[in-house]
Amino acid sequence: MILVVGGEKGGAGKSCIAQNLSVWLKREGHDVLLLDADPQKTSYLWAQERLSNNQLIELPVEHATGDLRRLLQDRAKRYAAIVVDVGGADSVTLRSAMTVATHILFPLRPKRRDLKTLENLEHLVSLTLPVNPDVIVRTVISQAPTLPSQITRILDAKDACTSFGLKALNAIVYNRNVYDDADESGSSVIELGTDPKASDEIKQLATELWSI
Ligand SMILES: Nc1ncnc2c1ncn2[C@@H]1O[C@H](COP(=O)(O)OP(=O)(O)O)[C@@H](O)[C@H]1O
Ligand SMILES: [Mg+2]
Repeated sequence: MILVVGGEKGGAGKSCIAQNLSVWLKREGHDVLLLDADPQKTSYLWAQERLSNNQLIELPVEHATGDLRRLLQDRAKRYAAIVVDVGGADSVTLRSAMTVATHILFPLRPKRRDLKTLENLEHLVSLTLPVNPDVIVRTVISQAPTLPSQITRILDAKDACTSFGLKALNAIVYNRNVYDDADESGSSVIELGTDPKASDEIKQLATELWSI
């Protein structure tokens, strides 16, 4: 499985989701590689930080950008699962990774500036499908407000995805401090274990994605 976590906006939560999903996969016993394909090396540096804490499960990580097709095809022979964290821009890196992905996930905040990218995401998917017709493409609402009064924001964002032919996962990633705490300590929300709601939503996201 090659999961590309991508999109066109920085700050949407791509690295956060890629990191948390990688740890979940590893804890489930899968042989997983986290490939940081962002020039900013966010996930690579996060994974390096994990090495200084021997309580955290070892997670193989590599950094690469540019045309990723051969690299991904090669690594797919060695790893059962590869999670690719792509930088927030339309790039050769993103487009090439999409052509060999088995799963593509676009995290989007329920905000107009993220939802405005849906049109180009739809375009990118339309370029990918002729060469990679079996790829599973989903969006996930990220950093969703936890206030019940804000639920319409989430529903509207899901509707916006549907209107561009992109299916949103049922699972939602809410805005929770523990994601920042985990990020800053090279950890994941499940390993930190301080917010069961966050741990649950990562499990739900992972199991939903993997069952498609
Ligand atoms: N669900 C969330 N709740 C709270 N903070 C989050 C969440 N997801 C990401 N963040 C924080 O937002 C910032 C940007 O997230 P990041 O995953 O790096 O975005 P991207 O990779 O899309 O640019 C980071 O500081 C991260 O810790
Ligand atoms: Mg990132």
